[in-house]
Amino acid sequence: MTDASLRAAYPAGGLALVVGATGGIGGAFVTALHASGAFARVLAFSRSSAPALDLTDEGTIRLAAKAVADTGLTLRLVIDATGFLHGSGFEPEKALRQFDPTHAAHAFAINAIGPAMLMKHFLPLLPRAGRSAFVTLSAKVGSIGDNSLGGWYSYRASKAALNQFVKTAAIELARNKPDAVCLAMHPGTVASGLSQPFAKAGLDVRPPDVAVDQMLAVIARLTPADTGGFLDYRGDRLPW
Ligand SMILES: NC(=O)c1ccc[n+]([C@@H]2O[C@H](COP(=O)([O-])OP(=O)(O)OC[C@H]3O[C@@H](n4cnc5c(N)ncnc54)[C@H](OP(=O)(O)O)[C@@H]3O)[C@@H](O)[C@H]2O)c1
Repeated sequence: MTDASLRAAYPAGGLALVVGATGGIGGAFVTALHASGAFARVLAFSRSSAPALDLTDEGTIRLAAKAVADTGLTLRLVIDATGFLHGSGFEPEKALRQFDPTHAAHAFAINAIGPAMLMKHFLPLLPRAGRSAFVTLSAKVGSIGDNSLGGWYSYRASKAALNQFVKTAAIELARNKPDAVCLAMHPGTVASGLSQPFAKAGLDVRPPDVAVDQMLAVIARLTPADTGGFLDYRGDRLPW
């Protein structure tokens, strides 16, 4: 069902790409996009792909964009499934006394500045006409309006910054590419290395392939009116 909607939504012969292809959700996106038959080619970028793409090194993003342009195919869909919540000795902060500027700087580098550089280098490759979309995975905990629990300072703030980058880039994009969509999407809680330590019993933890199928159903329905938005995996708008 989703495959048919995707094939109907995106002009045939286009290119899709996934950044963060080694991740739980990113890997499932690569598999599903290949299987959908909606795109002539699906490129999977990560720090271990060829060319490699490291969000902390703009030169690698520039080279990846060149590889995309060199395919000669029209770029129709970009999925940014990168992100950072814990690792390298950092855990989400429960209280302000745990706030560590090195941790916060890393969260901002991966969750906000890196995706902004993806927008800088990939949005210019979207076509001037016809459907195309840049979708970056944000998180509901990045919503300021929805924050009733506190904690997770660096993750929350870096995702809020990502949302602002998305909104701002969407305004600029609409000026010369009115058919293109740039938005932030919350995948819901998905079983992956990122969520594993925090996926408490009682939460609706979905396997990556289920979450990706839900998100692709939303992506197939996107219209230019959705650009600059913050949607969840059901297509519902989230508060900023
Ligand atoms: N899972 C959930 O429940 C959940 C909930 C809400 C939002 N999200 C968001 O969904 C997105 C994907 O999450 P996930 O659960 O799939 O996490 P994941 O399995 O940990 O995947 C994270 C991805 O980010 C990549 N990455 C990290 N640092 C990078 C860097 N410097 N350069 C390039 N890539 C880098 C990782 O690549 P390496 O393999 O090279 O490290 C990996 O591919 C994230 O933005 C996350 O915040 C997830």
